Amino acid sequence: MSNVITIAGGGSGHTPGIVLTLLKNQEDFPIQEIRLYDIDEERNHDMEIIIDFLLKKHGFDIPLLATLKPEEAFTGVDFVFSQIRVGGIEMRELDEKIPLNHGIVGQETCGLGGFSYGMRSMKGFLGLISDIQEYAPDAWILNYTNPETIIAESVRRSFPDAKIINACDMTISIEELIADSFDYDRQYWISEYYGLNHFGWYKNIYDRSVNRDIMPEIIEKIIHQGFKTDDLEKNWETTYKIMEHMVKSFPTHVPNNYLQYYLHPNIVLEHSDPDYTRANEILDGRLKEIKETVKQIQKAKDITEVHYESDSHGQYIVDMAISIQNNSNKRFMLIVPNRGAIPNLREDAVVELPCYVNSKGVEPISLRENIPDFHKGLMEAQVASEKLLVDAFFENSYQKAFESFSLNQTVPNADVAKKVLDEFIEANGDYWIELN
Ligand code: G6P
Ligand code: MN
Repeated sequence: MSNVITIAGGGSGHTPGIVLTLLKNQEDFPIQEIRLYDIDEERNHDMEIIIDFLLKKHGFDIPLLATLKPEEAFTGVDFVFSQIRVGGIEMRELDEKIPLNHGIVGQETCGLGGFSYGMRSMKGFLGLISDIQEYAPDAWILNYTNPETIIAESVRRSFPDAKIINACDMTISIEELIADSFDYDRQYWISEYYGLNHFGWYKNIYDRSVNRDIMPEIIEKIIHQGFKTDDLEKNWETTYKIMEHMVKSFPTHVPNNYLQYYLHPNIVLEHSDPDYTRANEILDGRLKEIKETVKQIQKAKDITEVHYESDSHGQYIVDMAISIQNNSNKRFMLIVPNRGAIPNLREDAVVELPCYVNSKGVEPISLRENIPDFHKGLMEAQVASEKLLVDAFFENSYQKAFESFSLNQTVPNADVAKKVLDEFIEANGDYWIELN
């Protein structure tokens, strides 16, 4: 079987990594055609030039189509890999800066920045799903679009039967960092993790090469040796330093690094510059690199120096597609409706858990015991505030959005919540639905 793949958000700087991973996996997962779909013509075209170059460079004669039209993008497609970012990095900059200007965490998926993005994302993403349902109702949608819990909740309400799998690469990145830092081989691991997206904990990691849970020694090593962060960008280095601090404070589990925004907003704020955030780093880095690469390719078609490579972000989504196609029941951390899988958490929460992936889709693995009150309490507040945001979206309700913002655990009082909400309404304009 040969597959037609569409990358929605084709103009993204992550597209080359995904395509190069697809090329690496041609034996297990042959590709018949690659399509890039975006609403931004210039970015999609830039990426078409880069991908065309990469295909030729690696000796592949796979047809490539770049299009702005949903009908062309999705008709006859087998898999859609979605990584759209509604509003682009330009709006991410505002998600990060507006809260920071009020002295609270400004981040793209956590805190109120994540909620601003969530409101934009739901509107754009539900439009995308509706197009896919129209032109390719049988296609699998493998989704990376953030903020994932909010997206997953809104899709569940609007398209309960859509063939969508919501995935985040953060947990494998954490596992890779642990393995690299302390010389483990991840291929032997069976990890138990629970939480919401960007809001969870590793409970244990069973290592089949030694037949035991190695979590206690991993925690020891994080506390006493610290992660190896030499090759990381500054922003991620800081993140993992704060993660070490979280492990020292709460040494029973390994937390998702994104919990730093809720448990240590004080430290995050010390390292934040309201005039230059992660969005600025990306504008000056990833996005410039796209433009420079396009120029290089156009100048001299035979250039050998192109900086893109297959990466774990790409590998994770391609492995998932292979597991569906080959019915191989591989294990992935995925974002799924709880339905009792975490026994003492509300059933209608959208949670992140290990799951098996096969031709039928996703089969979540239930926990055998309750989670501790500390984690449950943090999660319950987060679930409620995210659900209120999704309610606000579907009901056009200002009041629910205000309640959602007030309940967010990065927010010290309802007055700040209201100020930030009003500024986001203004800044987002038509990217948001109208709130009355
Ligand atoms: C991780 C998360 C993604 C997030 C990304 C941000 O991969 O899982 O959800 O979007 O980090 O990375 P960036 O380089 O864009 O700041
Ligand atoms: Mn993620």
